[in-house]
Amino acid sequence: MINEEISQLIKSRKSIYPNEFNGSEIDKEVIIELLQNANHAPTHKLTQPWIFKIFSSNAKIKLLNEIFNINTDMDELKKNQLSQNFQKSSHIICICMKENSNLLPEWEEISATAMAVQNIWISCSGTSIGGYWSTPKYAKHLHSFLSLNENERCLGFFYLGVHDSNRSGTSRRKNILEKTEWFE
Ligand SMILES: Cc1cc2nc3c(=O)[nH]c(=O)nc-3n(C[C@H](O)[C@H](O)[C@H](O)COP(=O)(O)O)c2cc1C
Repeated sequence: MINEEISQLIKSRKSIYPNEFNGSEIDKEVIIELLQNANHAPTHKLTQPWIFKIFSSNAKIKLLNEIFNINTDMDELKKNQLSQNFQKSSHIICICMKENSNLLPEWEEISATAMAVQNIWISCSGTSIGGYWSTPKYAKHLHSFLSLNENERCLGFFYLGVHDSNRSGTSRRKNILEKTEWFE
């Protein structure tokens, strides 16, 4: 038997987008709890490659301005939409990762970092905290803004905010048996 409570949390995890956030702030203590759960992700050789750079309040505006500086050709509509997303979000986590190429291939470190993000995402299940992972192309150009070292990378943003949405159900999935092959 598997844990019914955990199954329920996993199945009810979903992306909540900033247009569904109500603009309320999440307490820093709660963000730290989410990060503690992230930190329990599995990691080969215990390299723990995830690095989280977290923006709130005025720092969000600095990040937004940097994104505008990078994307000089971003149209006004997109800029406005992004500004609103930033305003409605409580915290924006820049998901970063440290490569340890002498120890492990990069894909293992990306995988471990994604598992850390999944822990955050599942921890939000069934609460008024919502979020989603955004992977815009410009994330890789934030290297110096985020003070990343040469062996570190930004893998996108996790937008976090408070929502009142009771939108239910997860996005449609193909039947797992269509993606499974058994050898018995
Ligand atoms: C690695 C990764 C990158 C993602 N990047 C984006 C993105 O750039 N834009 C976006 O709208 N959603 C992005 N998503 C969210 C997915 O669109 C979302 O997880 C998917 O639609 C399934 O919905 P669910 O999370 O509610 O199950 C990303 C998800 C993952 C795991």
